[in-house]
Amino acid sequence: MKPEAAKRQIRAIKGVRDILPPESALWNRVEQTARDVFATYGYGEIRLPIFEETELFARSVGSETDIVSKEMYSFFDPDRDLEDLVEGYISSVRGKGSSPNILEQYVGAGFALLQWFSTRDPDTLTGKPRELALALREKASRQFSETTLDEIPEIISAFQKPMLQYHREFRNAISVAVSLRPEATASVCRAYIEHGMHTLPGDVKLYYIGPMFRRERPQKGRYRQFYQIGAEVLGQSDAPAIDAEVIEMLMAFFHRVGLTGCKLHLNSIGCRDCRPNYVEKLREALLKVKGQLGSDSQRRIETNPLRVLDSKLPEEQPIIEKLPRIGEHLCPACREHFAALQEQLKLRSIAYEINWRLVRGLDYYMRTTFEIIAPGLGAQNAVCGGGRYDGLVELLGGPATKGIGFAIGTDRVVLSLFTPDEDFWLPPRPQPPAQVVKPFTDDDVLPAAPVLDVLIAWMGAAAYPTAVKLARRLRGEGLSVELPAEEMKLKKSLGLADKLGARYAIIIGENEVASGRFTVKRLVDAQQRELGEAELIEFLRSKP
Ligand code: HAM
Repeated sequence: MKPEAAKRQIRAIKGVRDILPPESALWNRVEQTARDVFATYGYGEIRLPIFEETELFARSVGSETDIVSKEMYSFFDPDRDLEDLVEGYISSVRGKGSSPNILEQYVGAGFALLQWFSTRDPDTLTGKPRELALALREKASRQFSETTLDEIPEIISAFQKPMLQYHREFRNAISVAVSLRPEATASVCRAYIEHGMHTLPGDVKLYYIGPMFRRERPQKGRYRQFYQIGAEVLGQSDAPAIDAEVIEMLMAFFHRVGLTGCKLHLNSIGCRDCRPNYVEKLREALLKVKGQLGSDSQRRIETNPLRVLDSKLPEEQPIIEKLPRIGEHLCPACREHFAALQEQLKLRSIAYEINWRLVRGLDYYMRTTFEIIAPGLGAQNAVCGGGRYDGLVELLGGPATKGIGFAIGTDRVVLSLFTPDEDFWLPPRPQPPAQVVKPFTDDDVLPAAPVLDVLIAWMGAAAYPTAVKLARRLRGEGLSVELPAEEMKLKKSLGLADKLGARYAIIIGENEVASGRFTVKRLVDAQQRELGEAELIEFLRSKP
């Protein structure tokens, strides 16, 4: 190494950064708040891989989006099975006392490939690997059918070059294109399919916390490695009450973390039936004003006209204001869903603004989309984005599934909350007595869902507002509560409570609403009692 090279100071690369104390204490507090709040809504944590097959993101986020077409960190990763095969071969050569120099290892690897191909059915391969497999199999059968490992040195000299060539080509052909994840919804759906989670009872509610990677132009609040706290609900129902509860949980998080002045922006971007018509109308309108638009928007007229609505260019704003709006082109089913969602939000006293330009930069959304805007962050003021993505699981090869979720930008939340002179060191938590963590064994049955304290079985439309209020109250007390989004018969609710492993069911019908007293049923022995709200909370709190 040259002396000046040795002296060069190595710094973190552009767009990534270190998080130091005391700021890191605030990060922990934000993440812990999310864990605490999400647990009260019955969400369990999923830990996902940091990299996935590139195709996962291309298919879900969309290959035409900026995220996939410009911003992913992608590379080719050779197939692991092959690596293992080569490793095995090399160690067997070593075992025979041959000198393990690099060339021999490479040629040996090539030889291992030939052997592997000569036994593998090329019909299981496609494209380039198939072509190579056929060529190599033919060669192998002609030249090496009788070859044993001891004869390798002889064939090395004759076949060194073609083997190396095959080896290289083969490695490229079988490499998998992988990418650092730019977001995690796609991974959650992949995992949902891979682990057959559609067979679990009720909706599957998952949250994740971790870094994401996008090669964006760094600026305040925008990084190339940034962090998200996200949550997703997957299941069979697209009831607007699910959307509203997801948003309620989000607002509860922002409230608990102390981020004030946040605004919820809401929109519906329609479905596969109504959106294409709208996009066509939008494209026609944009073509009429094409000459007045900047080059990015001009390009998007062809590739993705909806994205023009995202433009921040001041000179384009008056033009965009006059474009046709999606709200006026929704099909009856989407219009009804959007209206019902707004009713649900009002019932929960959640303030929102309809922002007809909120189309989001990912292709998987349909119907509900939302963002949360925080004050004081400048241009990068969205602290959370989310929406509904019914059909994404199907698009990735899984069963028909509805889905909705969001991701909070942790960097931006921390940026909003952080003041350098404030003391973020939390007082130490009281430590529970030391416990030995029991290792899992094959006989252990993993719980399908996190511990659930209460399921609220409500019956009749009149009981629902009371159920919503009670659920919020109990969650505020730290209890985890499941509130079915749609009305169910009592028997079905109690069955679901059982399957989810709830400790108690609270039964609310019209009589309970009128009397202000609720029936609480302990599921383990079906004992019931009737309690007023304050007594009920006291009772549940004292029964850990
Ligand atoms: P997104 O809007 O791309 O949505 O990202 C969500 C949030 O992540 C943004 O609102 C922002 O706070 C933060 N964020 C995004 N890019 C950066 C960056 N370069 N630097 C700092 N923060 C950033 C999604 O990722 C969807 N997966 C959300 C979702 C989940 N939709 C349904 N389920």
